[in-house]
This record gives sequence, structure tokens and C-alpha cells, in this order.
Amino acid sequence: MCGIVGYVGAKPAEGVVIEGLRRLEYRGYDSAGIALVDAGSIVSDKRAGKLANLEKAIAESPLPPVTTGIGHTRWATHGPPTDRNAHPHVGRARRVALVHNGIIENFAALRGRLESAGVEMASDTDTEVAAHLLEEQLETGVDLTVAMQNVCRGLEGAFTLVAVDSQDPDRVVAARRNSPLVVGIGEGENFLGSDVAAFIEHTREAMELDQDQVVTITREGVAVSGFDGTPAEGRRYHVDWDLSAAEKDGHDWFMRKEIFEQPRAVADSLLGRRGTDGLLQLDEMRLSDQDLRDVDKIIIIAAGTSFYAGMVAKYAIEHWCRIPVEVELASEFRYRDPILTSDTLVVAISQSGETADTLQAIRHAREQRSKVLSICNTNGSTIPRESDGVIYTHAGPEIGVASTKGFLTQLVACYLLALYLAQVKGTRFGDEISQVMDQLERMPAHVQSVLDKAEEVYSLARDHVGSRSVLFLGRHAGYPVALEGALKLKEIAYLHAEGFAAGELKHGPIALVEEGLPILCVVPPRGRDQLHDKMISGIQEVRARGARTLCLAEEGDTTIEPYADVLITLPQVPVLLQPLVAVVPLQLFACELATQLGHDVDQPRNLAKSVTVE
Ligand code: AGP
Repeated sequence: MCGIVGYVGAKPAEGVVIEGLRRLEYRGYDSAGIALVDAGSIVSDKRAGKLANLEKAIAESPLPPVTTGIGHTRWATHGPPTDRNAHPHVGRARRVALVHNGIIENFAALRGRLESAGVEMASDTDTEVAAHLLEEQLETGVDLTVAMQNVCRGLEGAFTLVAVDSQDPDRVVAARRNSPLVVGIGEGENFLGSDVAAFIEHTREAMELDQDQVVTITREGVAVSGFDGTPAEGRRYHVDWDLSAAEKDGHDWFMRKEIFEQPRAVADSLLGRRGTDGLLQLDEMRLSDQDLRDVDKIIIIAAGTSFYAGMVAKYAIEHWCRIPVEVELASEFRYRDPILTSDTLVVAISQSGETADTLQAIRHAREQRSKVLSICNTNGSTIPRESDGVIYTHAGPEIGVASTKGFLTQLVACYLLALYLAQVKGTRFGDEISQVMDQLERMPAHVQSVLDKAEEVYSLARDHVGSRSVLFLGRHAGYPVALEGALKLKEIAYLHAEGFAAGELKHGPIALVEEGLPILCVVPPRGRDQLHDKMISGIQEVRARGARTLCLAEEGDTTIEPYADVLITLPQVPVLLQPLVAVVPLQLFACELATQLGHDVDQPRNLAKSVTVE
């Protein structure tokens, strides 16, 4: 997830672009860059690190006071966060400068073709190919708008592209497919941004685009077309949010915004994982197939929410790959003197990539000659740098301290890892793996359908503002979901909340149950008959003792109705994938309850986003 700005008008573009980038820096801050069109040439600067580094560089070498420009703040996906990988990228003749958000899935094939035509790549990014392709098109005599349409028809994946042509200084052209882009409409000036925060200081008139559309902005106007050149209309609207709401896309909290970003985050995390031969490919796996075939035990280490993702991974890996998996809290790992060999694969899960407990654990594992694979959301952070391989999740920056989209994308990465191991070890047939991938690719729509019913969950949360304690029950893959639901409530609502494996209740925790105690129950899909029926028995047990049962169960599951005081339905999905949908109402519940209680949801007391001390 990156931030993109484009401007054409009468003001100095540098100021407009840099200010826009500052408003978008929450979307990524690995590097920042700007390109301006000056008298037939592109002038650009780009720097690794936060926007402040770029500003310092510009202060030392000022840019010309021209009025057309584009800018970018990066959340790295392809290639480490360095100056050379920072955007904008330029074509071979420096005629075009281009910024990009998203992933161009077929970039490897396009890059191969360009390289065999003699183009030398100046970066590791997927973006740069688009700059060269645009320039190739311009050389045929078409204008930047037509060039963009032609290039986009050959791109696969999700992308927002914004480009300028040094030979056409009053035009900025952008395109979008499954990636955000809005147009800001001013008087004698127009803007482009990843969201309205980029230009809200200048105009509150905005325009939304559909998928697969190209937009051209000049001082005088805005023109929209399809990738095939057919003229189209954007949808105009007035933005009445203030600046801080604009950064949160109209939501009150970053956490709530991030919960609602989950369909996109899950989809992005799945992008580019299937090769043209239909086989799974994990770009930065870096562990050879032979290394993976030799693995005889997996130990997953992580903390907090990431640990619960690891618990779900255990069910998937053991089921699909038949490799024994242990899941261990990172802070405990070293101290039990774990048995590690060169055939042990240690999987470290960390959203931030900087958690000290997890980092120390992987250092210990590598000292014992085990291979370490990390699952991480932060490109270039310490844990992936110190690992033998990495699977990056593509959630974009997570600002809310309570992890939400980080968790869902970790789950996706865990499923991908399990399927990849099954492919390499041959424990599942190719068509079985494809079938699960198809099911995973349907998950963004399922998550969206849960979000569409957010109001039901909010009203349930409002009914519980007076509760002193909430319990969560689950079984199998629903057990880590129960633990995660309880953690969310503790973190932001400061309530006593505990998650239990439903079968464990009668061994002690059932003594906690008293009249009116709310218990959120994650009911497994009916595909696993025994599991489902056993869960219903657990629910009956607590209800008989006066608990108020708030049940999450799949659509059409009528067997739960007699035992549910409140029923929230989930889409029908396979049992192993159910955590992706079941956790969403629990996130919404915690977010709304904490809001009602008047807490700072994004920065809860005593917590930090990245825990860099042991
Ligand atoms: C999640 O809501 C928490 N803020 C916390 O438990 C977090 O998951 C944990 O500290 C691990 O962080 P990491 O994923 O960045 O390593």
C-alpha cells in the first residue's frame, strides 16, 4: 500500500505534492519521491526512509518552480526500501516518470521481454516495467492517455499508475485496477490521490473512478475512459470530512478503517502467488525445494495476535502436509532449550518484523542451524532480514495498535505456506491445492459480506457496555479465533476477556459462568459433524448455567438456533478457512465497545505497536 499524488495547475507543484505525501504517509514510509515536468525534461528526487529525508534533499538541491508533478510514498513490495527502488521510476530516455501502488503480477515476463530488447533496469521493482512500456508507446506517436490505455491492457494484477510525459507538460495521466485512486477537482487545477487526504486542503470536490479506467487531468478539466479508450464518466461527490477523518477514510479510528480494508488486504496478499503453470510461487521463499522436502518438524514462533495466526497455521500445515508443527510463544522459546536440528523449519510470524522476543528466538534457532522462514508485513525490517526466506503479507501499514488486517493477512500467508509445502512435498494433489486457492480467492468477498452486516455487531456491542467480563469459546481453528477475540477486547476495551477451547470448559473455567455472563461462541461449519456437534454441547452447557450465548455460525445452520441468545451468521466456508471470516465480527465488537466506553482505540493504554524490548 503506497501513497500517490498528482497535480496540474497554477501553484508550484512541489509544495502541493509534498504536502499531499505528508497526508498520505500513513500508507507507507519506506521511501518517498517526486517528479516534476520542467521545460521538456523530467526533474526528480527520491530517497529511502521517511518523507523528511526527501524534504531535506530538496532543501539542499531545490527543484524548479513548475506546476505539474507527481509524488509517491512507498510501502515496499518488490525490492528492499532503497533510493533506487523508490518511486518515481523513469523510462530509458527519461521521457516518462511514473509512480505505482499495487502489484503487477506479470512483471517478470514483461521485464524479460524489455531486457531482451536491450532495456537496462535501474531497480528491482515491478513498477519500472510500466515506465519503460509507456515510453515505448509514446515513441509510436500516441499521447500519454492512449499510451496508458495500451499499456494497462497488457498488465495483470492490481495497480494504480500515475505518469507524466516531459513532452506534454500540462497533462497527468492515471489508471486504476483494483487499487485506490480519486480525482480532486479544483478551479484551474486538478489533483490525483490515493485518497482524498492528498488534496483536501485544496478542494472538497472529488471524483471516483470505476475499475479499469484511465483518467487524464489538465488545468482545464478531467477526462475518463476505459482501458479500451471508450469515453466514460466518473462519479462526482462532495467531501465533507475534516482532514483527520479524511486520513482515516471517513472512519473515526485507524483500527476501524483497517478492519474495513481487510477484503482488499486479503486480496492483495493472494496476488501473484499462482504461476502461469498453475503452480504456487512464493517470490522471496529463498529456501530450496530440497531444503523444504528435508523438513521433518516445524516450530512456529510469534507473539500476541501473530501467535494466534500460528495456531491456525498448525491445523492447516498438519492437515495438508502431515508435518508435525509446534507453536510456541517467542518469549518462552529459548528458555525451554528447544530441540532444533538442520531439518527443523522455524517459522517466525511478525507484523512489524521488529518484535524483540521473536527476533531473539530466530537468532537462537539459526545458531542451532535450523532454517528460519518469516511471515512479515514490513519489508526490510529486522526479522525478515535475519531469516533464510520470507513471505510478505501485503496488508499495507497497520497504524492501529490492535492488529486486525495484519492478522487476516498472516492467516493468508500461513495457508499459502501450508499449500506450498504440500506442493513441494507432494502431500496434496495439484488439483486439491488449486481448489483451496480458489476458495481462498473467494475470501475477500466473504469478508466483505461480514463487514456489510457491521451494524448488527455494533448494536450487540452497545448492548454490552455495562459488561465486566466476556468469555469466548471455540474449537479447532475456532479456538485461536476465540483467543484473538478476547485479546482484542482486553487491548482496547480494557475488559476482562478470556478465550477457551470449548471442550476444556468442564475442566475448570465453567465455574466462572454466572447468570447473564456474555459468551461469544465461534461455531465450526457443519462439514466437520463431530466438531460442530461437540461445540453445540459446550454451548448448551454454559447456557444451562445462565450464560448469554452470542453465537457466530454459518448461514443455514439451524441447529444452533435453540441455543443462541443472539445469532450472527457467517458465510459458508471450509472449516480451515473459517478464521478469516469468524474473527471479523469479534474485531468489530471490540472496536465498537471500546468506542462506546470512550477509549482511545488506536493507541490503547500501556501498549506499543512494535515491542522492541524483551
Ligand atoms: C495485537 O493486537 C497486539 N498489538 C500484539 O499482540 C502483537 O500482535 C504482538 O506484539 C506481535 O507483534 P508483531 O506481529 O509485530 O511481532
